[in-house]
Amino acid sequence: MSKPLAIITGATGGIGEAIARRLAQDNWRCLLVARSESALHALRYQLGDEHLFLALDLNDEAAPITIAQHAEAQGGATLLVNNAGLNQMLPFENTPPNLMRKQLQVNLLAPMLLTQMLLPQLKSCQGTVVNIGSAFGAIGYPYQSAYCASKFGLRGFSEALSRELDGVVAIKYLAPRATDTQINDAQVRAMNTALGNKMDSPQQVAEIFMQLLNSKQRRKAVGFPEKLFARINGLLPELVDSAIIKQLKTIKSFLGSRESSL
Ligand SMILES: NC(=O)c1ccc[n+]([C@@H]2O[C@H](COP(=O)([O-])OP(=O)(O)OC[C@H]3O[C@@H](n4cnc5c(N)ncnc54)[C@H](OP(=O)(O)O)[C@@H]3O)[C@@H](O)[C@H]2O)c1
Repeated sequence: MSKPLAIITGATGGIGEAIARRLAQDNWRCLLVARSESALHALRYQLGDEHLFLALDLNDEAAPITIAQHAEAQGGATLLVNNAGLNQMLPFENTPPNLMRKQLQVNLLAPMLLTQMLLPQLKSCQGTVVNIGSAFGAIGYPYQSAYCASKFGLRGFSEALSRELDGVVAIKYLAPRATDTQINDAQVRAMNTALGNKMDSPQQVAEIFMQLLNSKQRRKAVGFPEKLFARINGLLPELVDSAIIKQLKTIKSFLGSRESSL
């Protein structure tokens, strides 16, 4: 029997690549998606010829349909991993409207549209969608307001659809905390060190991803105390308000005179 097909967006990034490698080890055939064709080509070369790649920009309106057509031509997808994402820490007042649009498009709208486009394929095999969210999908964090809006949205979308499609397609949500990838620039890393925030490796996140995928769980968060913080924030946000506001000066000191680079 041929191996089931998994679509991984953002497959060339830190977490996406680790997930693709882990899935390939577990007998999945991967359709790797990102913008950089050379990076995709290099990863497919390492994973082997049975894997596929598609270079496209998730900001393009045609991207979901192109991905769905490619998957259909391969017999249909069993798993969709909505992992591509972007973030940039900036004061809200300096955040260019176009960066807000891109964050909402790539982090939220593209996963929704891609999920919808792939539903016929996923329904026919009782497939799975895993949306890669963030600890900041449950905790509002200063200078990350557009990112938080996109990840809170992704968490809400995942929860609602998971209930709507119960028993039809499994919709799951994974919330990593800070992870050692290119999404975090030097200043964000320095800030995390100053605040004592732990950083996981992408391989650790990929292992937890596999646990979620192979379980009946609908959602999973990575790391303690972030998990606990997210729960307390849901129950008693005032407590977390004061804890984070106490850190505001430190957080601000790592912003420098930031302009958007995206
Ligand atoms: N690292 C963390 O601290 C952390 C923590 C919590 C959650 N997350 C989430 O984990 C996911 C993966 O992030 P990462 O840390 O692995 O980031 P990363 O290393 O920067 O990788 C991002 C991936 O997304 C792709 N991508 C970005 N914009 C795209 C677009 N417009 N169209 C298609 N692909 C695009 C990138 O490839 P191209 O540039 O070639 O397109 C790359 O493969 C994201 O959703 C992120 O929000 C990360």
